[in-house]
Amino acid sequence: MPDSPPSPESRPFLSWPSPTLHPSIDTQPREAGSSSTALHITRLPPNVSIRAPTKANVHLLKRINSLLLPVSYPENFYREILQNPESEALTRLAFYDEECVGGIRCRLETAAEYQAGLEKLDTTSVYGGSKILKAVSDYKASSSGSCSGSDSSRSKKKIYIMTLAVLSPYRSLSIGSHLLDYILSTAAKEPTIEADLAYAHVWVSNDGALEFYRKQGFEVDSGPIVRNYYRRLEPRDARLVFRGITCTRS
Ligand SMILES: CC(C)(COP(=O)(O)OP(=O)(O)OC[C@H]1O[C@@H](n2cnc3c(N)ncnc32)[C@H](O)[C@@H]1OP(=O)(O)O)[C@@H](O)C(=O)NCCC(=O)NCCS
Repeated sequence: MPDSPPSPESRPFLSWPSPTLHPSIDTQPREAGSSSTALHITRLPPNVSIRAPTKANVHLLKRINSLLLPVSYPENFYREILQNPESEALTRLAFYDEECVGGIRCRLETAAEYQAGLEKLDTTSVYGGSKILKAVSDYKASSSGSCSGSDSSRSKKKIYIMTLAVLSPYRSLSIGSHLLDYILSTAAKEPTIEADLAYAHVWVSNDGALEFYRKQGFEVDSGPIVRNYYRRLEPRDARLVFRGITCTRS
């Protein structure tokens, strides 16, 4: 997925937060009910908010993505967010005071769509072996709960993390963790989402993002590598990272 961000100098519209405005960061566990995992993430600074996409703010996600990600998304990628309730539920923006500083956009895939994607990769562009691909498709967190209905991993939906980015001056405030956690918590609670796995492509040289996903409990090092995933980067390969989602519905 994303490339190294451009240097701050190339982002003239950004206002840099004064260090004195940064509240201290504590290491309290997240609030009850907001988590789909046993992972502890740092509490957000009080002036950071995670907001739903609206007509008024959805264009800000496009600005963040075009600054930070090596993939350019068409207009309908953003238009669809407000047209499709699942897309809306799986998209969030992060604000530092009133400035949009990050965002996440995910797609819900049926088990069949996900499987078809893996099978396509298996034959055309993945090295890492079919054993690993099977591990991806069969993966379930050991703590994975069983929601009502079918508990077969093969019948559950999957969340594909298409974009996740935080402007560099606002990193290490746990904004990325909270954006991701919001989505995974939603997936764990919402009957309409009911996904049991989240996955993403990460550029093989994006060590920071790979480490970020490791910290979020994703399988990183055992994931397959997708050849020639990126056209604008060298090397062009992506690592597929994935994590089981624990159902928290009673
Ligand atoms: C990856 C990204 C979204 C992380 O956002 P963030 O808000 O800084 O993440 P968090 O503050 O929640 O980080 C949580 C933990 O992940 C780890 N982490 C995050 N970025 C890291 C980096 N560049 N290097 C090493 N570890 C990192 C850290 O351990 C961090 O904990 P810390 O606060 O104790 O340092 C952000 O760096 C980014 O937008 N990068 C460019 C776009 C991108 O690569 N997107 C994701 C790949 S698909």
